[in-house]
Amino acid sequence: MPLTACTFVLFGATGDLTRRKLLPALFRLFNANSLPERFAIVGFALPDKKAPDYHEFVRAAIQEFIPDEERADHRLEQFVELTSFVPANFTDAEGYDRLKSELARVDGERGTFGNHLYYLATPPALVPDILRHLQQDGLVTQASSHAPWTRIIAEKPFGTDRDSARRLTNQFHEVVKEDQVYRIDHYLGKDAVQDVSVLRFANSLFEPLWNRNHIDQVQVTVAETLGVGNRGGYFDAMGQTRDMVQSHALQVISLLAMEPPNSFAANAVRQEKAKVLDAMRPLNNYHAVRGQYGAGHGMNGEPVPGYAQEASVPAGSCTETFMAAKLSIESWRWSGVPFYIRAGKRLPKQLTEVLIQFKGAPLPLFRGSTRRPEPNILRLRIQPDAEISLIVELKKPGTLNDLIPVELDMLYGEAFKVPLKDAYERLLLDALNGDAVLFMREDEIDAAWRVVDPLLAYWNQDPVDFPNYAAGTWGPEAADELLARDNRKWLSLDGF
Ligand code: BG6
Repeated sequence: MPLTACTFVLFGATGDLTRRKLLPALFRLFNANSLPERFAIVGFALPDKKAPDYHEFVRAAIQEFIPDEERADHRLEQFVELTSFVPANFTDAEGYDRLKSELARVDGERGTFGNHLYYLATPPALVPDILRHLQQDGLVTQASSHAPWTRIIAEKPFGTDRDSARRLTNQFHEVVKEDQVYRIDHYLGKDAVQDVSVLRFANSLFEPLWNRNHIDQVQVTVAETLGVGNRGGYFDAMGQTRDMVQSHALQVISLLAMEPPNSFAANAVRQEKAKVLDAMRPLNNYHAVRGQYGAGHGMNGEPVPGYAQEASVPAGSCTETFMAAKLSIESWRWSGVPFYIRAGKRLPKQLTEVLIQFKGAPLPLFRGSTRRPEPNILRLRIQPDAEISLIVELKKPGTLNDLIPVELDMLYGEAFKVPLKDAYERLLLDALNGDAVLFMREDEIDAAWRVVDPLLAYWNQDPVDFPNYAAGTWGPEAADELLARDNRKWLSLDGF
């Protein structure tokens, strides 16, 4: 279906997200002829100091983030010509008047019918002002699909707790309807995350086993080797639980745990995800562990500073850079199955994966073996190299009955022979298309904050002695103790 004509309006047009992710994703879509035929990009922000000419800014971003072999010069220039810029401060009413004139000009010249997709790539505190000005200047319509339509993409974090998220949602609803709000979580744009649903519901093999009768535990690891880099100011106000768990990790778990939706339409899927989050027991300190990295080693063994020494982080900060928790979903399907999650910065390797451990075989039939059979594990590795595999027990060739675990695996890189797309490409295309299935609905956000809020409130008033793990290690010992209490440990499939 051809996409409808539209103007993509980029708030925060000179920011890091725009440079690193949004412009490269838009360029790739343009290069693949996936953008609407009548399309324009209007940036709104204060000019970049190094590249005050916006065309120069766009050109430099594409040259930096798109490899040479992917960008012919003439295509880059055609793309640059799609962009224009309104230099302005987000709180300055006059800037919005100029935006209005620019949009009228662009809509007229390019025939984009007044269809506007706004992307709010700005610090969250600015969002209410932007919404108010858009409304006052008559730059929004209350339609998500009939021309002239308005859609607004909101970056995370969506609020910092349940109350602030509700306030923000109300502010959106004063301007547009819920189906015009596209709350982005870039994990949902990753191919391997989308395959969680496809694996479950396009195959008949897994679903009969996908419940408390056959699954013993689920472990989710979101490990990063990087520290907070130059994002210390933002991160220190957030912490790992808000930054990675309330959003990305809970979204992945809701896809893993949801009931089969009636269809893959946006509301049908989001309904089921929201039900999972609703059934999750709110977290408390007994079922969670926090950590902060101290000085240690980076991925290549180089010495790296502790979190409190990073730029813009206040000395003595109690912000967590690691969290682990045991989540319980109180539903018929999942009652009694622990979902363990750990998410941390400056861990020994970059790895996002889900391990689903099934219950063990009921009887040790192969008594001659030197080892007992281990339970099967389904591994869904999301990154760095996407992979789906199943660990099964087989017999060592040549021996009588010596059992050995073997991995049946599918590496995306080998199976599909094409590089996976960046998550933003898929998400921008969906938003242009008016498909919100990979964006979060208000009730999902609300339910996810309900899960983490009590824990964050407790931590906030409970002093802590940080740092408690060295950069380059798997987090504080307490993360192992959390599982040891249940007679379990973090599963590692290294060696396969
Ligand atoms: C972002 C977080 O949402 O996700 C960052 O704000 C984090 O702190 C990033 O580093 C991780 O994304 P990815 O796609 O590299 O796993």
